[in-house]
Amino acid sequence: MSSVGSAFGESLPRVEGTPPGPASRSLAARLKLVESRNVTHLAPDWPVFWEEARGANVRDADGNVFLDLTGAFGVSLLGHAHPRVLEAIHAQASRLVHGMGDVHPPRIKLDLLEKLATLAPWSDTRSVLSSTGSEAVETALKTAALASGRGGILAFQGGYHGLTLGSLATTHRSLFRDPFRDRIFAEVSFAPFPDVAAGDRGIDEMETVTRILAERAAAGSPIGTVIVEPVQGRAGVRVPPPGFLAALARAARHQDMVIVADEVFTGMGRCGDVLASHAMGLDPDIVCLGKALGGGLPVSACVARADVMDAWPESTGEAIHTSTFLGHPLSAAAALAVLDVLREEDVPARAAELGSVILADLRETLSDSGVRIRGRGLMIGIDFTPAVEEERLPGIGSRLARAALAEGILVLPAGERGEVVELTPPVCLTLDQERYAVERMDALVRRALP
Ligand SMILES: Cc1ncc(COP(=O)(O)O)c(C=O)c1O
Repeated sequence: MSSVGSAFGESLPRVEGTPPGPASRSLAARLKLVESRNVTHLAPDWPVFWEEARGANVRDADGNVFLDLTGAFGVSLLGHAHPRVLEAIHAQASRLVHGMGDVHPPRIKLDLLEKLATLAPWSDTRSVLSSTGSEAVETALKTAALASGRGGILAFQGGYHGLTLGSLATTHRSLFRDPFRDRIFAEVSFAPFPDVAAGDRGIDEMETVTRILAERAAAGSPIGTVIVEPVQGRAGVRVPPPGFLAALARAARHQDMVIVADEVFTGMGRCGDVLASHAMGLDPDIVCLGKALGGGLPVSACVARADVMDAWPESTGEAIHTSTFLGHPLSAAAALAVLDVLREEDVPARAAELGSVILADLRETLSDSGVRIRGRGLMIGIDFTPAVEEERLPGIGSRLARAALAEGILVLPAGERGEVVELTPPVCLTLDQERYAVERMDALVRRALP
């Protein structure tokens, strides 16, 4: 394994033996006794327990140093523990840790809302803050139902919008839905989502969208909301062909539908633009943000055009949609710092540039392997579907992620059947780290192939 040539954050991995080491294994044994068994997958080869993280590096409980190509679910777009974010959290913590979001608001909530409004593609913006991506989606779906006056929703096959009961109705994967089938809001229709890397042109998919909209209108349950990820993340980084999102927006506008862009994963520069939806022609009414917004602290936002958000009644003392930690001062301080860094350090452009370097290098080195490499900005997927027979596909991404630990690399599986390896690294990845990552991913992919 390569030795550490530079500071923690910018270093190459350093791993002893095959992780998880003894400390992580012993912590796993303790966790098994106190956490719901559904939450953390515990196995002899998984997981490692994190102790410390900076830049693109994570140190585990055994002292192993990893290269984090997950960005911790896409959150650490700026890198772990960005100094500006830490500074902002420390300064805020010394003044006000918690406030009363919707009663006596912390002043910093206002600062964040004002800054968020500058990201929006409209001149007049109203937002609702919350803590998680699922909550931002819940807010968006409620807002859209009020604004359109119609309950029906159009979502997409493969789409992931969260696991709370409301957002789950629009998340497609049956693994998540089936146990709650009887409790999930049923007025959601799923259309196919085109993947440009697989040769989809979006024409058949748009025909299906049009047919669903017509059928639902004829059946007396017209659709009022469309929710879409500009690039499907957890479905395995599926990028739609140019023009698809614009065509979708036209069809939705034609029927006076409210368009929700779920940018919890794609937003904040990850896909090369502050808002991927705007850059890709969607022209949304509502944008959901989360993950990278808080630079590691939990904060999310449902950002909407003022006339759409004004479908909510004015609060007369009891907000009908709010939460205890809304506008949390520490999260707001972190998010303000992230928004400053986004502009000052030109994060979207850097994500676009680094992403195209990684994409090009992976495509070159793996050109003869049969896998499909796709992505936009720093959201990249390695899809095994064209390279592996059907029966060997399920879980191949997860097997690779386990093998990657011994190479000092953190990656995650994605896709309905775990047939994709997802790379969502931070923008601060150094060139040495990028080279190392591509070289090791090449070896790992080849080992995973039959
Ligand atoms: C596109 C998208 N929407 C919503 C969510 C849900 O966010 P959270 O897990 O913070 O609730 C996710 C999480 O992965 C996501 O990728």
